[in-house]
Amino acid sequence: ERGNYRHFMQKEIFEQPTVVAQTLSSYVRQADQTVALPQMDFDLSSIERMTIVACGTSYYAGMVGKYWIEEFARVPVDIDVASEFRYREPPLPKGGLALFISQSGETADTLAALRYCKAQGQTIAAIVNVPTSTMAREADLLLPIHAGPEIGVASTKAFTCQLAVLAALAAKLAVVKGGMDRAEEQEVVRHLLEAPAALNSALDHDDDIAAMAHLIAPARDVLYLGRGPDYPMAMEGALKLKEISYIHAEGYASGEMKHGPIALIDEHVPVIVIAPSGPLFEKTVSNMQEVRARGGKIVLISDREGLEEAGEGCLATIEMPRVHPLIAPLVYAVPVQLLAYHVALVKGTDVDQPRNLAKSVTVE
Ligand code: F6R
Repeated sequence: ERGNYRHFMQKEIFEQPTVVAQTLSSYVRQADQTVALPQMDFDLSSIERMTIVACGTSYYAGMVGKYWIEEFARVPVDIDVASEFRYREPPLPKGGLALFISQSGETADTLAALRYCKAQGQTIAAIVNVPTSTMAREADLLLPIHAGPEIGVASTKAFTCQLAVLAALAAKLAVVKGGMDRAEEQEVVRHLLEAPAALNSALDHDDDIAAMAHLIAPARDVLYLGRGPDYPMAMEGALKLKEISYIHAEGYASGEMKHGPIALIDEHVPVIVIAPSGPLFEKTVSNMQEVRARGGKIVLISDREGLEEAGEGCLATIEMPRVHPLIAPLVYAVPVQLLAYHVALVKGTDVDQPRNLAKSVTVE
């Protein structure tokens, strides 16, 4: 089943162009370049507030979704991890939409949060991979991803497919709320459809990433920095690294560095900076310079323009294709997954079955 791949995780990373295209094919209509969601028996345009709840990698996908939904649809989004949300029992907005994101559709805390929201009269939407799962059955609106079975314990292809659905949902919400006109919708569709090819170009850098993994493998701690939607990507990168290589890693909002974590910086703590060129690039680069001024070793992940401007003096750089900011989180997922994967190979850990972890967490 692994085919020519050494690990399921590696296979699933390389499947992403295909499965993201598969997922997108059910959320965009090529013919008229519109975003399409499954039938629903409630009025999407009446949604004034949203709540997103998930765990782990699915939670980070949700965080990216929050940036998109607030930016495009101007609908405020609350987001929390399920284990906090369910015991916090937060008051919920009237007529709110609660969205649950789960690869398995069975995660105990996420399911409990879903049932809480249902009991509170929220409309329930669920982005899940397993179509026969409990969450899929209990949702009012099922938004399936079409990633196929994910075997590796560390989630990879489910994450990028979740992002694809979230981008479509954000755009659809913007359209029905009148914040996005036809031309803008077509542009979003066009960029989304560019994602599979961009994912392929990102995968082309597998060898470069393999070649630099030995620079990260000896580290005890690694920091990941990003801004805007790349902030959750920093946290996702850190999670992948800790899960499979057992290196302590943290994802931080670039601008938050100077409020504490900068004290950790020395030549032994590699700092991975996720910074596609775009409106937030300069800001992140200036945070990166603060790290460098303190002797920090930087791995910059950016596109050619970004690397030309800021790549000099870095410990290593990873070049990504130049993409529209909308699809950058999908594309930049690839280098952080591959980096974790190759560091784990250098360390000789069990990539598909990391210690202490289970694929589906059905106990709280
Ligand atoms: C990380 C990972 C976990 C899951 C989390 C939620 O690589 O796999 O953090 O993302 O346990 O699982 P689902 O999405 O099945 O609810």
